[in-house]
Amino acid sequence: MKSFCRDTWVEVDLDAIRANLETFKRHLPEKTDIMAVVKADGYGHGAVHVGKEALASGADSLAVALLDEALILRRAGITAPILVLGYTPVESIVTASELEVELTAYSVEWITEANDILQKNDHKPVGIHVKTDTGMGRLGVRTKEDLLAVVGALEECSKLKWTGIFTHFACADEPDTTHVRRQHDLFQSFLQALREANKKLPTVHCCNTAAAIAFPDWGYDTIRLGIGLYGLYPSLYMKERADVILTPALALKTRIAHVKKADEPFTVSYGATHTAQPDEWIATLPIGYADGYSRLLSNRGEVLYNGTRYPIAGRVCMDQIMVSLNSTEAAVNDEVVLYGKQGDEEISLDEIADLLGTINYEVPCMLNYRIPRLYLRDQKVTDVFHPLTMKHSSHENVNI
Ligand SMILES: Cc1ncc(COP(=O)(O)O)c(C=O)c1O
Repeated sequence: MKSFCRDTWVEVDLDAIRANLETFKRHLPEKTDIMAVVKADGYGHGAVHVGKEALASGADSLAVALLDEALILRRAGITAPILVLGYTPVESIVTASELEVELTAYSVEWITEANDILQKNDHKPVGIHVKTDTGMGRLGVRTKEDLLAVVGALEECSKLKWTGIFTHFACADEPDTTHVRRQHDLFQSFLQALREANKKLPTVHCCNTAAAIAFPDWGYDTIRLGIGLYGLYPSLYMKERADVILTPALALKTRIAHVKKADEPFTVSYGATHTAQPDEWIATLPIGYADGYSRLLSNRGEVLYNGTRYPIAGRVCMDQIMVSLNSTEAAVNDEVVLYGKQGDEEISLDEIADLLGTINYEVPCMLNYRIPRLYLRDQKVTDVFHPLTMKHSSHENVNI
């Protein structure tokens, strides 16, 4: 049996993941570790595969947004430290204890309650990173007083260990550094207040990809590397700086399901917004908005066929799209690249993000469970994971 039955797939180049991680290692001070951020299923690339590759390439720990995401990593046999960056309902502290996963906290009440819950059945202690809000306005303590209260509460808890302190930058990817510098100054003053209160600082971290590129000296003990790990830049401004060269890891590909040449004009797709003209070739591709290929690309997106760009003809359907190949003849099963390189041409995730009016982060995150992920090393498929059928299979069955 084939490992997937529709020829639409994502390729993730594990060599690119490794190269990007090593690029950041070289860019950062030697003492600074890397926490690989694999939330949202590794930004759509696959958290388990990316997490394992990052750890094998020199990352020291992983970060996710939800405890459920950490569970998937542990089930896959990953034993490295994992931090949950987001809010975790206090009852889930038991799961964190069982999984040996660290959580983020920023309130005395949550800390006290979590400790009580763990004490009741003598669960193992849980590591806690204290989040400070220095200008993101999302999660975290906002004053020195609150910070000292939270740390003081943690020190009272036998079942919680204070293992980290961090903040998150809102504008580190912008040319104007006023906001990020203000946030960093405040973070430093928080650290200073802790030192003055004779607290021994645990793992300190503040940099995301953008801050790690722009301010490597702010790496402290570790950075939280997300988008850069996947070979994407946090903003076009960051891409232009070009002092850190990254390799995109993801490509989205498919094969022509049907192709026809217009003998006379006919309309294409819902709403009949494209009319094929005589001698125009129209190819039908088996991917649609239900896969995460946005309907906003209707009549706007392009694909690569034989290394040349061709436009989406008509509206993106739920499971299919049509492409105008102009006068180029094509055959069923021919490969088409939706995102990535073919020949000398490339359709980057930045280009798609621009068409969609969003950021590159969102584009791979949209690619969902209907699309199998193929993992490549040395240009060869080494593993296949199809989230829809939840099956790993060997690469022998893959027809690429
Ligand atoms: C708290 C936190 N840290 C780190 C990251 C990684 O950011 P980036 O992908 O820009 O490197 C994120 C991502 O949004 C985050 O929410």
